[in-house]
Amino acid sequence: MINQPSSFLPAIEMQKVQKVFKNAAGTFHVLKGLDLSLAQGEFVAIVGKSGSGKSTLLNMITGIDHPTGGDVIVNGVNVHTMNESTRSLWRGNNLGIVFQFFQLLPMLTLQENVMLPMDFVNKYDFDERPKRALELLALVGLEKQAYKLPTTVSTGQQQCAAIARALATDPPVIAADEPTGNLDTKSSDVIISLFDHLVKSGKTIVMVTHDPSLTERTSRTVVISDGELINETVAKCFVNLSHHELLDLTHNLESFSFDPGSNILAQDQTVDYLYLIVSGEVEISLLDPKGKHRVITSLKADQFFGEIELTGSGRSIANVSASTGTSVSLVGIKREKFLEILKNSLVTEEAIQNVVRLRLEENRIASEKLTGGRR
Ligand SMILES: Nc1ncnc2c1ncn2[C@@H]1O[C@H](COP(=O)(O)OP(=O)(O)OP(=O)(O)O)[C@@H](O)[C@H]1O
Ligand SMILES: [Mg+2]
Repeated sequence: MINQPSSFLPAIEMQKVQKVFKNAAGTFHVLKGLDLSLAQGEFVAIVGKSGSGKSTLLNMITGIDHPTGGDVIVNGVNVHTMNESTRSLWRGNNLGIVFQFFQLLPMLTLQENVMLPMDFVNKYDFDERPKRALELLALVGLEKQAYKLPTTVSTGQQQCAAIARALATDPPVIAADEPTGNLDTKSSDVIISLFDHLVKSGKTIVMVTHDPSLTERTSRTVVISDGELINETVAKCFVNLSHHELLDLTHNLESFSFDPGSNILAQDQTVDYLYLIVSGEVEISLLDPKGKHRVITSLKADQFFGEIELTGSGRSIANVSASTGTSVSLVGIKREKFLEILKNSLVTEEAIQNVVRLRLEENRIASEKLTGGRR
């Protein structure tokens, strides 16, 4: 079944979320005013260096920890305005939580562990619970292990059981903190395939991970650096920069928006920014001999333009406009900042120079076609 989000309500909305720890050693700003919106049905990886604030962010969503400022809204419910007992019940019904170290109760069988959340929120008839627990264990491939104690199965199987437990009350959102951090590659693969299956059946999953190979399997990656989120378009356009450099760029962005069909840059106009496309589509056109705009190519979200001009003459070699069907949202990096990145990152400079070469060639062929070879 293709997942169709049931409504336009975001699954998770974080607004200006701050977390400050104070102790004898001083005051630590661990989350510095995060804004984040996750749609229903998204499979989101949260990545970042050790100590960047990933677990703290996740604990804000689950309500395990409290923000110093800002709001966290999960499926329309403000997590931190509830009192503790209401929040516990709400959490039991709405969130499945998976930890790195499984946290199964050692004296209970896998089946009994999976039944615990149902007992806690008193969901499903008492007699139905054992059967439902077995079904969930079968879903994660553990039907034969249901009556075993956690320590008698492999670590990968323990994590599968923890996922079955997280699904016990059929919560719409799963929050997982390094769920594969303690597993070998094969077991990690089983877990991610399982998450994939859950997302396709309509769940929203937010997963903290250190493992870059896992982010290829999620629908979105959010990078946190030193308690701040890196702009996602910037992260996708500059894959070779460090988190520190990406954060610096994030601090130096300007936003622009354009109505459908409107002009963004005119041919020969001075270009002051590298423009990254956040959403919408832009058309690149040249003027034909009769002065008509001829579209030569279009660019979509997570592509950029302006690099030819910023590394060259500074004047636009083409017209750029928002496609008629879409409004366009851009972020811009000022010329000096862009040139500074190229100076400091050789790989990025090479990648940009490759794009410049390809696009100039594309442009040359297109303009030859327009003028019939006469220029
Ligand atoms: N209770 C606390 N008191 C003071 N500082 C804390 C507390 N909890 C977390 N921190 C600090 O907040 C920062 C972020 O911690 P967090 O656990 O969210 O990082 P993380 O990205 O999950 O790291 P890791 O990858 O190692 O799990 C760290 O510098 C940590 O030392
Ligand atoms: Mg952590």
